[in-house]
Amino acid sequence: MKVIVIGASGVIGSAVADEPAGRGHTVVRASRRGPVRVDMEDPASADALFEDPAVRGADAVVCCAASGRLTPLDEPSDAEFTRGLHGKLLGQVQLTRRALHHLQDGGAVVLTSGRFDEPTPGSAFAALVNTGLDAFAQAAAPEMPRGLRLTAVSPGWVGETPERLGMDPSAGTPAAELARTYADAVEGRTARPGTRTRENRLPYAPRPATVLP
Ligand SMILES: NC(=O)c1ccc[n+]([C@@H]2O[C@H](COP(=O)([O-])OP(=O)(O)OC[C@H]3O[C@@H](n4cnc5c(N)ncnc54)[C@H](OP(=O)(O)O)[C@@H]3O)[C@@H](O)[C@H]2O)c1
Repeated sequence: MKVIVIGASGVIGSAVADEPAGRGHTVVRASRRGPVRVDMEDPASADALFEDPAVRGADAVVCCAASGRLTPLDEPSDAEFTRGLHGKLLGQVQLTRRALHHLQDGGAVVLTSGRFDEPTPGSAFAALVNTGLDAFAQAAAPEMPRGLRLTAVSPGWVGETPERLGMDPSAGTPAAELARTYADAVEGRTARPGTRTRENRLPYAPRPATVLP
């Protein structure tokens, strides 16, 4: 399969790009700074992405790009509070709508949401974005044409992220382990909706990813 990974230079995306490459798929790595360029905040750049010769004929697109951030409810700036609306939420929605017209029959769109399993100060808008993406994937999946599949992967903390913040990495799933969930979704091997995924069973995955639908 030819698999486009958007956000392929990030903590999750770099592992997500390596996994299908290790399974023998062709991986095209994209982000705002290349090698193939796309900006999830700009729908026109998603149009351009699918016209890129390196991307044409792709079977799957995976997005692990464009986070929101933790922002307190009383953040003075509306734009700052709603960061993630245009890139992470609407960007992934618009990417999905464009992918309908470009991916090969039977291909896959795999989005990233996220989850907070404990009360997390500043998480209100990010939680809204994550829940919105999960709901979108669940509702839109039955409308996917030509045997295309739509999945949202909802990870808890990835171990590398608290590690970078000087926190205990064992609180999260290693990105390489999470990447198998994405690659399974690309290949159509995702377990039935609502079932526990592989990394959920590991002792270092106290915050399991869920996969929708
Ligand atoms: N890390 C975690 O523990 C965790 C847990 C749950 C969910 N998530 C979610 O997983 C996703 C990835 O997180 P991450 O921690 O891997 O992020 P990250 O390390 O900051 O990497 C972000 C990646 O996305 C690209 N990117 C950023 N903005 C973009 C845009 N507007 N258009 C296109 N590419 C863009 C970046 O490259 P360029 O700068 O070159 O564009 C980079 O490749 C996010 O949606 C995040 O909310 C993360």
